[in-house]
Amino acid sequence: MGEKIDCKVLAMDDVLTDSLQRPLRDLRISVTDRCNFRCGYCMPKDIFGKGYPFLKQSSLLSCDQVARLVRIFAGLGVHKIRLTGGEPLLRQDLEELVRKIAEIPGIDDIALTTNASLLSRERALSLNQAGIRRLNISLDALTPEIYARINQIPVPLEDILSGVAHALEAPYQAVKINMVVQKGVNDKDILPMVEYFRGSQAVLRFIEFMDVGNHNQWNPEQVFASQDIVSLINRVYPIRPASANYPGEVARRWRYEDGQGEIGVISSVTQPFCGDCARARLSARGELFTCLFATAGFDLKKLLEADASDTEITSQLRDIWGRRTDRYSMERLSRTRSDPSGHRGRKVEMSYIGG
Ligand code: GTP
Ligand code: 5AD
Ligand code: SF4
Ligand code: SF4
Repeated sequence: MGEKIDCKVLAMDDVLTDSLQRPLRDLRISVTDRCNFRCGYCMPKDIFGKGYPFLKQSSLLSCDQVARLVRIFAGLGVHKIRLTGGEPLLRQDLEELVRKIAEIPGIDDIALTTNASLLSRERALSLNQAGIRRLNISLDALTPEIYARINQIPVPLEDILSGVAHALEAPYQAVKINMVVQKGVNDKDILPMVEYFRGSQAVLRFIEFMDVGNHNQWNPEQVFASQDIVSLINRVYPIRPASANYPGEVARRWRYEDGQGEIGVISSVTQPFCGDCARARLSARGELFTCLFATAGFDLKKLLEADASDTEITSQLRDIWGRRTDRYSMERLSRTRSDPSGHRGRKVEMSYIGG
């Protein structure tokens, strides 16, 4: 272990910002690149098949390595951690990892994004007890045929819905449901999803389909704009805008006028939010990515294995974040219609850095 970084509230002058004056506040950590699902927009089955070169167990960062990096990031201003995958519940030592992160001074929010297929009652409780405060669950449809068209692994929808129920029974601060909406694929299920989750403790969020990774055949015609989702819902269940829970929240919140809870829309394509993007991403094998659409990461594992001190790692991180210019979604918006995705290199896969 390297030396300890004293984590105190940073004075304004000390706040690390990138070249667009954005601080570093959130770290999203992928704990595995594997998933037991094959959602077509993320890990299409024909690409992520038997021969796919997933990371070997031995290449993954250990709990101690992740915890050490989190401690260093906390010293730079990170206070929010989100664990992702692939599917994070595939990782057997997840609770141990959460416990280690929860002990780190400065970290006040630990959240998890999961497909909920492995979320038994026991697991929902043990993760919460370990320190997960908020849970986001991916669920794109309620009609079995539509669901089966999106997730190319035959999973009974009831399994996911039980996972959601277990999450709601455990004492989480918040449970959110993420629905990626693809025009002509699952838009018919927008209202059924609204009806299913209205009045429950779960906050349903609609995510615009994005051009992440290299294999999801993204096409702007398939994006169902958040504005249209809001209008569609508002016609049946009137909603009013609500203010953000915290600066830089990716979802715009809307509350039902009849008091039956709220929904959120994540408009990464039509109204990008790069302007206050304070998120860094750590891959399961220890590379740091400063954008969801990055083409290259910085190998932190190499530094760990070379016995770099905390001070050396901190200095590298300051340098990487200080030089950061990423604003991919804003650039996408200003690209011409004839070249909407127009990316210059091979992007990292969403399942590799966890969305
Ligand atoms: P909370 O607000 O903390 O609940 O989390 P979140 O909404 O950031 O987390 P979640 O993993 O549920 O993210 C939801 C979706 O928002 C992701 O799947 C992405 O589609 C999108 N998203 C999150 N962060 C970014 C980002 O930095 N850039 C872009 N383009 N999309 C993002
Ligand atoms: N576009 C939008 N959201 C996506 N996700 C995965 N792939 C995409 C995509 N192409 C979402 C998942 C999950 C979150 C982590 O990322 O549905 O909720
Ligand atoms: Fe797995 Fe989530 Fe990707 Fe679906 S979106 S394949 S559940 S990592
Ligand atoms: Fe942040 Fe990149 Fe997403 Fe923009 S596109 S919000 S810079 S992760």
